[in-house]
Amino acid sequence: MTIHISARPGDIADTVLMPGDPLRARWAAEQFLDAPRCINETRGMLGYTGTWRGHRVTIHGSGMGMASLSIYANELIRDFGVRTLIRIGSCGGMQPHVKLRDVILAMTASAVSTPSSTILRELNFAPCADWTLLAAAAGAADARGIAPHVGGIYSSDTFYDERPDLNEEMTRHGILAVEMETAELYTLAARHGARALSVLTVSDHLQTGEALDSTARETGFADMVEIALAAAFP
Ligand code: HPA
Repeated sequence: MTIHISARPGDIADTVLMPGDPLRARWAAEQFLDAPRCINETRGMLGYTGTWRGHRVTIHGSGMGMASLSIYANELIRDFGVRTLIRIGSCGGMQPHVKLRDVILAMTASAVSTPSSTILRELNFAPCADWTLLAAAAGAADARGIAPHVGGIYSSDTFYDERPDLNEEMTRHGILAVEMETAELYTLAARHGARALSVLTVSDHLQTGEALDSTARETGFADMVEIALAAAFP
């Protein structure tokens, strides 16, 4: 039991899928896991453990933003011994060829700062995905007829962004999309010798202003859960 996760030792699997939204964690556990059991509801941040094709897996919310994700990922890795963390979430497209509903596998995550900046100080650390998970997720997407974009994303500290010039620089440097969690997830995984990957669906687009409706978000979310599970247990 930790400050933010009221689970007992052994309640949490080695592999954790992390949607931002705790209700999505419940939905995914009910849809995809056998015998899902709620192992955390502290502060409404739901977590469930069950099995997928015989493999034990936990699906636990991260909350929004790197500060929230950092709390849960730290406790999952350091106190519950989690070794594989796969974020499943949404992002805003930043390139014309990146369309709504497209799947993005985040190879790297740039950021202005992360919660780890205080310890990294002047070091411009390059947070990157675990290669075996990334390759397995690309294969799992292909097997489902989904052609993912694989490349760099931007982890922002703000959803309501008032720096259009910064977004323009990201776009100019080939960044595929913006979200708010991955740079810290990859940094924590690197620090603790764990494996991490972010599988993202484009839910809105910064250049066109388009956004997915709730039905399309649900379909995209189901695809991500399947890709993440197949990547974790190839
Ligand atoms: N900005 C930041 N995070 C996001 C966005 C966005 O436009 N869309 C989904 N997550």
